[in-house]
Amino acid sequence: MAKLVTAPSTALTPVPAVLVTAGTMESSDVTTLAWVGTLCSEPPMIGIGVRPERWLHHFIVEGGAFVVNVADATHARALDLCGGVSGKDTDKWELSALTREVGTATAVPLVAECPINIECVVRQTLHLGSHDLFIGEVVAVHADERGQAGGRVLDPVCYVSGQYWKLGDLIGPTGFSRT
Ligand SMILES: Cc1cc2nc3c(=O)[nH]c(=O)nc-3n(C[C@H](O)[C@H](O)[C@H](O)COP(=O)(O)O)c2cc1C
Repeated sequence: MAKLVTAPSTALTPVPAVLVTAGTMESSDVTTLAWVGTLCSEPPMIGIGVRPERWLHHFIVEGGAFVVNVADATHARALDLCGGVSGKDTDKWELSALTREVGTATAVPLVAECPINIECVVRQTLHLGSHDLFIGEVVAVHADERGQAGGRVLDPVCYVSGQYWKLGDLIGPTGFSRT
């Protein structure tokens, strides 16, 4: 199939759409992010790209921690809501009807409705341009039965060029090509 060469852009797709929280149980923000990825296995590290103008940003800088909350498709509406307004003007917890839950390793609230909550402590911050990259070391993982077994029964939300999608069919386990 013929290919077009286009201008440089973040063409990587799909990417996960998650809810990231920062702050404390008393004062916090919950924001939708898609520039999120696993960076290292040992120690486990996750990177998130956040624009400095996001309300979430100052909570991460001040608290030195964030939580990646992996939503499932039943909470796609809340995910979209938290990516459409700023916590600077609106209490997004109330707007989205999401529930704060106490974490175990950081002061940052978890989103109770999310099957997986990954508590991270910021180890490095890189100012890349439009976004700051916060590199967080995972210090605790909370997973309900949907989030256990590596999230295989999870119904996660993927972000594809301005749209939310669910996963399709299982192709096979890693190594299936050699059997
Ligand atoms: C699907 C989706 C993904 C987003 N991903 C990011 C992201 O990775 N980084 C970012 O800075 N903003 C991202 N945004 C924008 C913020 O979620 C949005 O500006 C939000 O209102 C910021 O809220 P805050 O000011 O309370 O932090 C995304 C929005 C949506 C809807």
